[in-house]
Amino acid sequence: MEWTKERRYRTLEEVSQEEVNELERRVNSSVWRQTYHIQPNTGLLNDPNGFSYFNGEYHLFYQWFPLGPVHGLKYWYHVKSKDLVNWEDAGIGIKPGDYFDSHGAYSGSAIEHEGKLYLLYTGNTRDNEWGRNPYQCLAAMNQDGEITKLPPVISEVPEGYTDHFRDPKIWKKDDEFFMVIGAQRINGTGCIVQYQSNDLLSWSFKGEIKTELPNFGYMWECPDYFELGDKGILVFSPQGIDPEGDLYQNIYQSGYLMGSQLDVKNGVFSHGEFQELDRGFDFYAPQTMEDHKGRRILVGWVGLPEIDYPTDKDGWAHCLSLPRELTEVNGKLFQTPVKELQALRKNEQEIEDILFDEGKAYDGFTGTTYELLGEFQNYDAITFGIEFRSGKNEKTIITYDTIEKKLVLDRTLSGKSFATSYGTVRKCELDSKSIKLQMFVDVSSVEIFVNDGAEVFTSRIFPNQESESIRFFATGGKVSFQAKKWELQTNQ
Ligand code: FRU
Repeated sequence: MEWTKERRYRTLEEVSQEEVNELERRVNSSVWRQTYHIQPNTGLLNDPNGFSYFNGEYHLFYQWFPLGPVHGLKYWYHVKSKDLVNWEDAGIGIKPGDYFDSHGAYSGSAIEHEGKLYLLYTGNTRDNEWGRNPYQCLAAMNQDGEITKLPPVISEVPEGYTDHFRDPKIWKKDDEFFMVIGAQRINGTGCIVQYQSNDLLSWSFKGEIKTELPNFGYMWECPDYFELGDKGILVFSPQGIDPEGDLYQNIYQSGYLMGSQLDVKNGVFSHGEFQELDRGFDFYAPQTMEDHKGRRILVGWVGLPEIDYPTDKDGWAHCLSLPRELTEVNGKLFQTPVKELQALRKNEQEIEDILFDEGKAYDGFTGTTYELLGEFQNYDAITFGIEFRSGKNEKTIITYDTIEKKLVLDRTLSGKSFATSYGTVRKCELDSKSIKLQMFVDVSSVEIFVNDGAEVFTSRIFPNQESESIRFFATGGKVSFQAKKWELQTNQ
């Protein structure tokens, strides 16, 4: 059945139990369901929202359209965890349908204040001509996890900007609250604007954040600002950037500017180059939080807008990335999987070998859901790397090209193909005497952390369940390596 506007903008109450049952049946029989990633029970998941630590638990919400693998009336769905590993289903967080969020509770963030967790989000509304009118909305969650909507805090788009005005991210500094919002100028370029508040209820418009990128795409979604040491980091997801060499290969990008701390008074931000956060095929709209241990942790959407995925036919789409800890190393963000993930490790296996222009698999060193830590050194090979989720006619390959000094992820033969018009290979520059790959493989995804977080490749892959071989290879010379592998098991 076609996803007409009418079908996309139904609330859950307007849907028959039979339709929901039938959808659940399809989702539950999908062979691509993940095992240790956050994924929707049915329908479509997109941006992470309201990522926070409150009342002894991590809270994470996500954009959710319950009824199918398409973008429609968005809810906030809520999951929570004591350890960032085992997530408990906390049900619907924000239900759209009020005058200020009639067409979706869009993305936003959370902050603790006076014993409550405040959620700030964009209420998407449409008029009879389908024109947008975004509100910035407020809701409060109490200690029992009950969420109550409050009146919207910003009901107008300031002059100079279009109705593409959304995704508030809040932070607090010296008793003041600040908010950034993703915006589009009336000249059709993307930017970020800033608001300030003393009480979270009344906000004053502080103008644009003045970056050195006045003309960088047509819309900047999901802004985030935080500080690491004396550095300020502005994260956003720009749309409308053309590919450039190995960069900006996905339909939309997500990355950051790093510079000195934002001058909140004048909105001035001086910074270096825009740097992509992830080198893989599927990563967008990340959000960060600072936890009670002082760590800056990021979660992203492992998916992209406007791309069809193989799970669509099963009535669901997308998952969230694993939580990554961010640190600053020489002007660059390093991203490492939070160490709590080690609790998932079961059945360690270890191998070590030297390869001479050959490919080798090792007895019992196989799998479909695992963590693999591989370290390669002493190479004079032209290329070396790992083939994984490999089987009859299928393989996903991570290769280090020692001549070009590039790391290459190839999903040409990863299984069910999709989004191929954006290419099937992703590359990034890496000049290193040793290459360390920490790979998290789930039923239909892979996240590869390179050299202790210097780079990350996040991608969906859709191989056959039987494709579980792992092969280490070198061409045109030798490489030595050690590898450890753990099966990953959740308590869920
Ligand atoms: C990014 C985004 C946000 C918006 C949300 C709607 O993926 O388009 O800008 O708030 O998704 O689901």
